[in-house]
Amino acid sequence: MSTRGRILVYPDPAALAQAAARLVVEGAQDAVQQRGAFRIALSGGSTPQATYRTLAEPACRDRIDWQHMQVFFSDERFVPPDSPDSDYGMARKSLLAHVPLPDGAVHPVPTVGLEPAEAAARYSQTICDTFGVQAGGTPQFDVILLGMGDDGHTASLFPGTTALLDDRSLVAANYVEKFDAWRVTFTYPLIDAARCVAFLVEGSGKAETLARVLSGENLPAARVNPGNGQLLWLIDEAAASQLPADAHPERP
Ligand code: 6PG
Repeated sequence: MSTRGRILVYPDPAALAQAAARLVVEGAQDAVQQRGAFRIALSGGSTPQATYRTLAEPACRDRIDWQHMQVFFSDERFVPPDSPDSDYGMARKSLLAHVPLPDGAVHPVPTVGLEPAEAAARYSQTICDTFGVQAGGTPQFDVILLGMGDDGHTASLFPGTTALLDDRSLVAANYVEKFDAWRVTFTYPLIDAARCVAFLVEGSGKAETLARVLSGENLPAARVNPGNGQLLWLIDEAAASQLPADAHPERP
């Protein structure tokens, strides 16, 4: 059983999306009230799309002070922003194009005209500049959304890749052999500095890997540990179907 974090189980993907959207709305309201700004890193993949669409609906959209929001991406495929594989492109279609974010509030990973390592370094600098953090410091996101692959990866921290070992950078270029492709990803130091890290995991296809991760097996997703920050697993019943007996899931 994971000794870290809360496991929150929802009946189905729609309920999970509603809960994840509520988490973002409430996180944004708290952050703006307490610190005057809300800084979030969005996850890529397919799972969060329903959450993003929910956030774009008036019931959520009208409860967020978008003027004080800064949006980043916890990882990105190294493709142009108009590529069908772009995480930024997915978030733009499902959320960012439908909400009143001010110019300059959305920070895609720069994937055009740069080598992956240059892109990672530039993104890291952009994050530090936006947070007002000096070199050597670690920006503290209010919320970082993450997914989990059926191989136990999260962000673009894949098993057997070099970024898993990078404990100095905030953002790393990561070559993923199984895709024969480069990714740009937050590293554990940046993820673990967050006030809240929320995994969104759904579907029976993730159940076995999720059980392994929550049992503490040494998979990339299991190594996320925000220390004093919140670690939340928002999952649906299908993904929860193989949870260890001592997992103590909550059903809000
Ligand atoms: C990406 C994501 C990646 C994703 C997992 C789960 O760029 O693909 O950041 O880490 O969260 O692969 O993806 P699904 O939600 O599509 O299962």
